[in-house]
Parts: sequence; structure tokens; C-alpha cells
Amino acid sequence: MKHLIDPMDFSIEELEDLFQLAEEIVDREDDFRQVCANKILGTLFYEPSTRTRLSFEAAMIRLGGQVIGFSSSTSSSVMKGESIPDTVRTVGSYVDIIAMRHPKEGAPRYASKYSPVPLINAGDGGHQHPTQTLTDLFTIRKLKGKFSNLTIGLCGDLKFGRTVHSLIKAISRYENIKFILISPKELQIPQYIKIEILKQNNIPFMEVEKLEDVIHKLDILYMTRVQKERFFNEEDYIRLKDSYILNKEKLKLAKDDLSVLHPLPRVNEISYEVDEDPRACYFNQVKYGMYVRMALIIKLLGVM
Ligand code: CP
Repeated sequence: MKHLIDPMDFSIEELEDLFQLAEEIVDREDDFRQVCANKILGTLFYEPSTRTRLSFEAAMIRLGGQVIGFSSSTSSSVMKGESIPDTVRTVGSYVDIIAMRHPKEGAPRYASKYSPVPLINAGDGGHQHPTQTLTDLFTIRKLKGKFSNLTIGLCGDLKFGRTVHSLIKAISRYENIKFILISPKELQIPQYIKIEILKQNNIPFMEVEKLEDVIHKLDILYMTRVQKERFFNEEDYIRLKDSYILNKEKLKLAKDDLSVLHPLPRVNEISYEVDEDPRACYFNQVKYGMYVRMALIIKLLGVM
């Protein structure tokens, strides 16, 4: 039984297989309408979500399956003190596959050890978000037709931004990837990513504080929100929250074929005026997230 806990749980070949299936679903969705008939997805969301939870639910329903779950720990027996193993064993006896989001880093991995069905990490604290990475990679594949020879700017909260950590891990496996890490000093990428992924694999990267200084070099600009919920001190959040605001003026400095991605939700880091620019790809990214999750459910359930 295969779980998806970390973006590295899928090899490059497995990813390619998954993306080809997602492409087929985009092209002829009607052929997949009954693929998961009689299957049930359980969504265990101990932390808020719009895109991840609803795209998983839409994915299962579009495949002919059904969904049960909770969108907040306050509406489950977690509030009575039920443990993660007992919750997962219980829900796993009702459903065929589980998607779980939790504020504690490592909680989905721990849960997977007790789960009788495939379990998907739908985001764990400031750690990893592998299905967002599948979404990001599928979007890049659609936009650029490749994963190699790209200069990728990651901008914003690189310390707590789990989507950034997962994307760096996954895309570093492709050829000639360069990263430009754009953040305030306090929100720089964690040391373990720098040492264990970038330095150990000789991946070129630079750390800068000003987006305007580097935007002209980028093929992809991946904007992120400052993660309010991970700060211990509100004053620090208020000081840092508007560190970067991408607007039309800054985009004038960028290449014509730049692709602007964002895992969303956005707060203030991309002005609404940018949405009309053809380089703004984040709402396509949202939609691709549903198709890639349809492909993921099919693969983990082994129904095709
Ligand atoms: N990208 C993402 O994880 O969004 P949600 O928090 O809305 O699920």
C-alpha cells in the first residue's frame, strides 16, 4: 500500500506517469466519471483549507466516488482527546483513502503507520505539502513543457512556507535548475533545505532581499503569503506581512514569458491588477490541482 507523505515518495518516472494520466483526464474527463464508483475519500482537516480540501472532494466526486470527513478538529472527537492513531484507524475502516492536513509537522507520517488505507499528506505545519507540489509541477509542465533549464524565483515566507520546501525538494531532481530565494532575512529558507537539498546536490542558488533586483532573470516567479498562523509574535507578522507586493510596475521588469505562480490563498502579495496579465497563472494552477488530485486518487487506489 502506497501513501503520499513527502514529495520524494514518487520517483521521477512515477511523477511522469501521474502527469500523463492527469493530462488524459483534462482532455477526456467523461471517460473517468465512474472510475471510483463505490469508493469513499475521507478528508481529515485539522487546519483550515479551501483549495486542498475542496479540490480533493471535487476530484473524488468527479471520479464517481463519495466523500466524508471533517473540515475542523472542533467538529470531531479530537475535541474529546482522541488520538491520531485511533482517529485514523476509525476513519480508515469507513473509507478507501484518506487526505489529512494537520498543524503539527510529521503528523501525517505518524498517521500513515496506523492507517489501513492509503493516506495523503494534505499539508503538515510549516513542513511539507506534497499535493501542492504535484499541482505546481503539473502547472509548470503545462506552461513550459519541461522541468529542466529553469531559473525559479521563490519569494516571500520561505521559512514557514511548506509549499516552497516541497517544491524545492521535488524539482531539484531535474537538470539545470537554479533558484533565486527572495525573502527578508527573518524568513529565509530553513538550513536543512539549504544543506540537505541544495548544497548536497550542488544546486545553484542565491539569497536576496529585493524582488526588483532579480525579477528580470526569472522563468518562474513563485509568490507566497507570509504565514500568519506560524508566527509566535503578532508584531513580527505585522512588520513582515507586506515585505513583497507584486504589481504591474514590477512586472514591467520581467521577461515576457515569465510565469507567476502562487499556491494561494493570497493576502496582499500580488495586487489584483496583476490578475489580468497573461503571465499570471495562479488560477490555472488552482484548476490543475483538481486534475492532478484525480490522477493521484486513481493511482493510490490502483483502480486503473
Ligand atoms: N494551496 C493551499 O494549500 O490552499 P488551501 O490552504 O486553501 O488548501
